[in-house]
Order: sequence, then C-alpha cells, then structure tokens
Amino acid sequence: MTKKTAQHDPVKGVTGLHGRAEPTLRALLTEIRGTVQFDAPMHEWTSFKIGGPADALVVPADLDDLREVVRKVRAARLPLHILGGTNVLVRDSGIAGVVISLAKLNGIREDEGGLLYAEAGVRMPVLMQFAATHSLSGLEWAAGIPGTVGGAIVMNAGTKLGEMRDAVHTVALVGNRGELLLRPASTLAFEYRRTVLPAGAVVAGVWVMLRSALRSHVESTIRTYLAYRKRTQPLTRPTAGCVFKNPEGDSAGRLIESVGMKGLRIGDAEVSEKHANFIINRGKARAEDVLQLIDDIRNRVVSRTGIALELELKIVGRT
Ligand code: EPU
Repeated sequence: MTKKTAQHDPVKGVTGLHGRAEPTLRALLTEIRGTVQFDAPMHEWTSFKIGGPADALVVPADLDDLREVVRKVRAARLPLHILGGTNVLVRDSGIAGVVISLAKLNGIREDEGGLLYAEAGVRMPVLMQFAATHSLSGLEWAAGIPGTVGGAIVMNAGTKLGEMRDAVHTVALVGNRGELLLRPASTLAFEYRRTVLPAGAVVAGVWVMLRSALRSHVESTIRTYLAYRKRTQPLTRPTAGCVFKNPEGDSAGRLIESVGMKGLRIGDAEVSEKHANFIINRGKARAEDVLQLIDDIRNRVVSRTGIALELELKIVGRT
C-alpha cells in the first residue's frame, strides 16, 4: 500500500492529513448524494473550454443536497465557487476548494398568474422556451444567452432589449448555514451586470413574473433576436460571451474594432472577427493567452480612446 503524502491531498494545508482536527475534503463530501469528482478538469465544464482542475467538483442531486454541501463547506471554511460555466475564465492552475455545478437543479414549474419557478441550474434558453410554449412574454431578450438562471440572477444578465431585473419576482437562496432564504425582488439591488445578494448566499432558484401573450408572437420575437445574434456573434465557437461591459453610451465591440484588434491572436486565443467583444478559443487556448489578450486590448483601447474597459467576464482560480 502506498503511503499517503501531502501531495495526495486535494486541499494542501487544510486537510487533516495526519488525523488532526480538520476533516479532509474527501471525508467532508462522503455523504453527498450527488456526484463528486476530485481534480476535475474545468475545461470540460466551461463554454470557453479552458481551465485547470478544481480540487473537488460537486453536482448536488437536489436542493436539500445543495443545502448540505453549502453548510458543510462553509462550516469547514473552505473556498466555495458556484460554476455556471458560461461567463467565466478559469485560470490554468485550477480552483482551490469546492466547485458546485447546479446542473441537476433543473426543474421548472408554472404557478398561477404568470409566475414561473425555475431552479438555478436551468439554462436560460430552456426557461425562455418554456415561457413561450406557455404563452408568456418577458424573457425574449435572453434569446441566445447560454447561461444558467442562477448565473443570470447573479450577473443581472441582459441585453439592450431587457434584463433579468425586469422579470424577477422572488429569489430563493441558500445561506451560509444551509438555510433557505426567500428574497422578493424589491429587497435586492440590481445594477448593470451585477445583483447585490446576501453575502455568501447561493442562488437556488427564481420566480419570474411574466405577461400573457400570443405564443406565435413570443416565438417570432425570439426568432428575430436569435437571427440577429447568430449574424453578429460567434455563437458556435468556444467563448465566454462578451468579455467587457459596454461603457456608458458605447459598445465595447465597436471600440475594440475601431483600434484594429479584430483577429488578433495570442496562442489559440483570438479576438473574434465577427464581434470584437468576444474572444474565441481556437482549440488549445490557455487562460494565460486569454489574460494577455485582455491586457493588450485594454491597453490599446485606453491609450487610443481614453476609455478604460471593465471586464464582464469573471476570472477565477489560483493565481
Ligand atoms: N459593433 C462593431 N464591431 C463589433 C461589434 C459591434 O462595430 O465587433 C457595433 C455594432 O455594429 C453595433 C454596436 O457596435 O452598431 C452594438 O453591437 P451589438 O448590437 O452587437 O451589441 P453589443 O453592445 O456589442 C450587447 C451585449 C451582448 C448582447 C448584444 C445583443 C454587453 C456587453 N453586450 O452587445 O451581450 O448579446 O448586445 O443584444 O452588454 C453578453 O452579455 O455576453 C453579450 C454578448
């Protein structure tokens, strides 16, 4: 039998290798009913197809399982990260602690009076289509947004045509002790691409309030928006969506194109020819390549236009 060494431990310095007080990450997660994977390669879990391993990736089986994971991980004071997977760049050295995917929290139900409840792992296109088939309008702006409902809440996702805040009625959250919290939209602060939520809370689901409408009308609006995005954005390539927020009154894509950066490449990371606010992974791009490209774009845009671009993309992982 091989002797256990510190190298075998997923969270060095935190685990109780020699039987000391701290529980190991493995022991902490043994009673989870969902799936648990150690050293999980994040490039398999992100739309960018980039990222080193997470110490542990947990996919809770349901809401109660999520509450249990959050409670345990917070009590052990380990880092916790919720992975939607679409608006994120995971660094090449991976993520310390526990990453949670809400892929199995994927239920949607219709309550009375135009209210829909969607669990946080539901994909926005799925929720939008569910609303359309139930003749409900109010989410058409999300056509082409690939992220999850939870991510859309955290980011206050939106387009020129609307944003999450317009539809949110109540948000269900899991607090640091695993408790369930319900927060009406009126008690939350929605900002541009950011929602202020209780510290450390994990979005478990959301009630959206929609309006009755003709199904054919809702579906034709969705088709029009989707066609526009297909025409103007690299939707079929591995990307993380828009990289920068739009500066007040302008478009980051327009600015980046205006300084001649379309098609610029570092390693396999490339500024999209179709829409300059997207970076494409041409195959084996590393996070390092993307970060360098981001730096170059910011530097050139600020030096030529005086505008400092802010990141919309979230960068996570060990530095
Ligand atoms: N433009 C250029 N060059 C480019 C890209 C755009 O000149 O490379 C010009 C366009 O011709 C247009 C203007 O910039 O005149 C605005 O472009 P677009 O309609 O594509 O919208 P955007 O402001 O670049 C925003 C959102 C997108 C969303 C689209 C469509 C942000 C940061 N971006 O982009 O959201 O899909 O509107 O509604 O808010 C995302 O959040 O991941 C995202 C891509």
